[in-house]
Amino acid sequence: VFDELRGLKRGHLKIAVASTANYFVPQLLAKFCRRFPGVKVSLDVTNREGLLEALGDNTTDLIIMGKPPGRIEVESEVLMENPLVAIAPPTHPLAGEKAIPLSRLQEETFLIREKGSGTRSATERFFIDQGLSLSSTMEMSSSEAIKQGVQAGLGLGLLSLHTLEMELTLKRLTILDVQELPIIRNWYVMHRSGKRLSAVARSFHDFVKDEVSEVLNLPTLA
Ligand code: PGA
Repeated sequence: VFDELRGLKRGHLKIAVASTANYFVPQLLAKFCRRFPGVKVSLDVTNREGLLEALGDNTTDLIIMGKPPGRIEVESEVLMENPLVAIAPPTHPLAGEKAIPLSRLQEETFLIREKGSGTRSATERFFIDQGLSLSSTMEMSSSEAIKQGVQAGLGLGLLSLHTLEMELTLKRLTILDVQELPIIRNWYVMHRSGKRLSAVARSFHDFVKDEVSEVLNLPTLA
């Protein structure tokens, strides 16, 4: 126990999170660092492809992302649901409409994430599974760019609900009521199979699992 406490006082925590998880992980880190003020933290924020690289290198303690990889063996645990929703500016003709058929979205331009993004691959898989495809798309390499683009009227977007807290609160964006949406994914915390976690990493892992629902004030679907 003493060794563990000493490890926690001087430990270094290296975590990598999906760019879409960056909207709630800092709140968790802040509470963790208040509890263990001696811990030094490095946070890498990148897309799914970057996270798979980090898992491959095995130099990161813990990773928080949308879906465990197929190719690399990991120990992963679900933290919470991660709904992907369709967003539009509040002035859009579809805003406020009820039960919009998914096929109606094919007529719209969609701002989509870059190749290597988990949000993008989940969206592509979803449309293929539904037998549909988006004909008009514009590629942007961050959720921020997509949110700005949707607000500006460039097109619609499909993003994790957890990236939208500010824009929904300020009513800059609205969630469309589409029949087959949201796409339900999960958030996972994970590390490579067999990795020996440091005392700090183990504490953060357990902390995240215990606190995720309490620390966070995330938007929910009505
Ligand atoms: P990304 O994150 O879209 O930024 O890659 C989501 C995920 O990990 O699936």
